[in-house]
Amino acid sequence: MDRVFALSFALFVLGGISARVVKVSSGPLIRVEGQPVSIRCDVSEYGGPREQDFEWMMSQDSSSGGSRTKIISTFDASYSHPSLSKRVASGDISVVRLHDNEVELKVAEVRTVDAGFYWCQTPSTDSEISGNYEEKVQLIVIPNTLRVSPQAPTPSVPEGSDFTLSCNVTRELTQPTYLSVTWSVKRGTSSEDILVFGPQGEVVVGSKFARRYADGGIRLVPGRNGVFELVVTRVTTSDDGIYECNGTEWTQEDGGRWVKIVESKKEMGTVTVTPTGQSLRVVLSSTSPQLLTPGNTLTLLCSVSADNLPALALEVAWLADGRDIITMERGGVVISNSSSSSSSGGGGAQGRRGEASLERTGAGEYRLGVRGVSREDGGAYTCRVRAFLEKGGRSSGGGGRWHMAAEKTSNVMMAKVATIKPSFSLSLDPVLTPQMTADPTELACHVTNITHLPPGSRLAVTWEHTSLPGVGEDPSTSHAIGSLDAHGNLIPAPSYSERMESGALSLSRVQPNTFRLKVLTTQEMDMGQYMCSVAAWTLNSQGEMIQSSELRSSALTIRWDAKRPSLNVVAKHIREASVGGATFEMSCSVAAENLGEAGYSVLIQTQDSLQSSVRTIMTLSPDSVVQHGGATDPNRRDSLVLTKASSAEFRFRLAGVQLSDRGYYWCDITAWTKQQLGQAWTKATSAESNKIRIDFEENGPSFSITIHSDASTVYPWETAMMECSLSVSGSSPKKDDLAYEVRWYFTRLRGGLVTSQVASMDRFGVVRKDTRNSSSEISIERKDTHTYLLNIHGTQDSDSGEYHCMATPWYLSASTGVWTQAAELTSTRVFLTVKFAVWESLKLPLLYGVSASVGVGLFSLVLGLVCAQCCCRNTAHTPRSRNKLMDLEMD
Ligand SMILES: *[C@@H]1O[C@H](CO)[C@@H](O)[C@H](O)[C@H]1NC(C)=O
Ligand SMILES: *[C@@H]1O[C@H](CO)[C@@H](O)[C@H](O)[C@H]1NC(C)=O
Ligand SMILES: *[C@@H]1O[C@H](CO)[C@@H](O)[C@H](O)[C@H]1NC(C)=O
Ligand SMILES: *[C@@H]1O[C@H](CO)[C@@H](O)[C@H](O)[C@H]1NC(C)=O
Ligand SMILES: *[C@@H]1O[C@H](CO)[C@@H](O)[C@H](O)[C@H]1NC(C)=O
Repeated sequence: MDRVFALSFALFVLGGISARVVKVSSGPLIRVEGQPVSIRCDVSEYGGPREQDFEWMMSQDSSSGGSRTKIISTFDASYSHPSLSKRVASGDISVVRLHDNEVELKVAEVRTVDAGFYWCQTPSTDSEISGNYEEKVQLIVIPNTLRVSPQAPTPSVPEGSDFTLSCNVTRELTQPTYLSVTWSVKRGTSSEDILVFGPQGEVVVGSKFARRYADGGIRLVPGRNGVFELVVTRVTTSDDGIYECNGTEWTQEDGGRWVKIVESKKEMGTVTVTPTGQSLRVVLSSTSPQLLTPGNTLTLLCSVSADNLPALALEVAWLADGRDIITMERGGVVISNSSSSSSSGGGGAQGRRGEASLERTGAGEYRLGVRGVSREDGGAYTCRVRAFLEKGGRSSGGGGRWHMAAEKTSNVMMAKVATIKPSFSLSLDPVLTPQMTADPTELACHVTNITHLPPGSRLAVTWEHTSLPGVGEDPSTSHAIGSLDAHGNLIPAPSYSERMESGALSLSRVQPNTFRLKVLTTQEMDMGQYMCSVAAWTLNSQGEMIQSSELRSSALTIRWDAKRPSLNVVAKHIREASVGGATFEMSCSVAAENLGEAGYSVLIQTQDSLQSSVRTIMTLSPDSVVQHGGATDPNRRDSLVLTKASSAEFRFRLAGVQLSDRGYYWCDITAWTKQQLGQAWTKATSAESNKIRIDFEENGPSFSITIHSDASTVYPWETAMMECSLSVSGSSPKKDDLAYEVRWYFTRLRGGLVTSQVASMDRFGVVRKDTRNSSSEISIERKDTHTYLLNIHGTQDSDSGEYHCMATPWYLSASTGVWTQAAELTSTRVFLTVKFAVWESLKLPLLYGVSASVGVGLFSLVLGLVCAQCCCRNTAHTPRSRNKLMDLEMD
């Protein structure tokens, strides 16, 4: 061959004439078994006819002298070697004329045995042999080792998110071949290439995907181990389709021309993009009651969910009755539209809506808070969500290549702002009903079925009373008894405050929802209708207690057959006093009607005759305190006894009845009731008993008295003596059964008539001297049972005057054996004159000489003292010893 080259080159250069040139593709050609092969051959610089013939042969080695196998010829149909004739006949091997001077040898499916050197030969048509007439190229046949195994992509992809197209393309590297991967998507019949990677590392993007690829929306991840990944991000519904992966093996020949030697296209799978609108859920849930009271906070929660929530940019708006309140924009900026509402013209401050706030509390959670709601804030609340998706790549930045993928509005939540009044029922029930006056009464006011009572609320009660017609005041108007206010304070009505303070009437709260009215002793004026009014007090937004609702119970009538209490008092004799000194005793029995528990006070009254004035002897209070009436002689108190014999019987005893005790006696009894223990008595009624008479005839002795003076005129310093004599006649008692109480009186004649008691001796012999103006000394002497002496020792001028004595005889009654007092006796008067002639003579020496006067004065003083000393001793001793005896006798 080299020789041929050299020869033709020599001819060309030397002769200047053309020399034939046969050319085939430069080799070696690497082809894959089973794939078609075409080898072109052309001829130029030839002579003869334009149309040239070609013959193809092959050999196992490259030497021109080696054995060749004839393949096909353009002019000789029987050219082919028998081993190939079948393949030629079937068209597996063919030769195609491209031009007059160019043909192509085609093998439809190359076999490994086809590897070798292919010779293209042109028979000469030239005038002289010049140039080369054949040329060869090497064909290398490699086995098909291309493997394309795609990974099925996620069949359903939420809009806005990513999916990966992963394809494993490998081949066994025996010859320098190259790989490329093509991803394409098929929609209907048309298929579009998305991206081609290779064969030499270059990327070719499909025209429709160029922008998206540039934005980073489509990313190629060349893999290891033959895995190539294409990540498609921010998918939209337009990305729906069947995805395919095409692996191609290449070889480079003819100085850089890429020849595709085998390819394999595999369907990866169908990808369906779920539209956002399909999975977007907007649900409203409230966390606060939808029934609000003004001032409360309305809280509503909007929960947004979607398959591709992280990919979504949400615009969340809250609407009330379709009106935008507040919106959180895609970027998180909150725009409130509530404060600028000025639609309510005359509403003023009342029309002000609550202050709205909106915050994102978690993924897809948006909370609306409306603080300080007013009535205007009520309405149908919805949450509207607009979901935005970023188009294309992430690098779009401020370009705002956003599109709204979906818009959803939540369910409606009704919010009502109203003052909900607490409601409840009342029932007024009797616990104790009085059957008669002074019985206790107890009423219970039950509050039941309480609803809508907010925390911190209180109940207050007011009790009312309406009098019955004819009892008490005007029955048409009710009046308050008292109330327990919301803070539990007891507020009595003025007319009841006294009874409440004393505990006779009480208002209380016995159980959380039961109020009680209690009257200890029910009075007639308490009859009538009772009502309780219960008010609920709730806290308003300012923290003040306000009355929110009030209910009045039905009336409960309390009445009984009121019978006036009455008393019947019967007095009767227990012991009759028929003689003086006897004991009188009477009993008074009380019978009460229509009177409960009662206490009695007793007055023992008397009168001398039925016409004379009434005197009270003794009283007994309901608390059993005995007192003596003013008319009672203090000395006789011991003989008067008034006792309570039983609950309804009283006894009066008068011991030692005297004549002065004669008359009528009776009991005046008053019944008292108590409203409450430890309280003052209230008068109920009173009655007088029949009258009982003490009447007896005095049949004891009769007494008389006389006074006698031994001298009616005495000189100063002399002793004057007066004798009081008593005499007894009739049934005269024995000496020892008789005693007198004697008293002396002096009536001064000068300087006005004044009678004063001088001295007395009681019936037991005890002497009492009264203070006198005179310096003279007196003594009393009992001469015998009937005779009493008054001595005036050392009489003075001031002792001049009238004297008389009085006596009260006491005798031991033979019939009763009791000391009895007889009527008082008064003597006549005697006159005593103290001469003052000596007194005058004693005066003269006083005037003329002190010594003489003193001498006489001293003398008379000593004389008086000595005389008084002797006389007083005598008079003092005698009666006292007598008296001692008398005391013993009386005991
Ligand atoms: C790709 O395919 C080849 C041949 O089938 C296999 O050897 C290789 O492990 C595969 N790569 C991966 C990542 O599966
Ligand atoms: C496979 O990819 C190659 C290179 O891009 C292309 O030439 C060929 O037509 C593709 N094959 C199919 C069946 O699409
Ligand atoms: C804000 O409120 C006004 C009056 O209620 C209304 O006209 C306007 O449309 C609201 N703005 C938005 C963004 O809804
Ligand atoms: C309380 O409610 C119950 C059930 O609603 C009713 O039957 C009952 O009568 C009510 N009680 C009063 C006192 O209203
Ligand atoms: C004592 O004398 C005075 C003055 O003369 C007189 O007022 C008074 O009553 C006298 N008293 C007696 C107890 O006589």
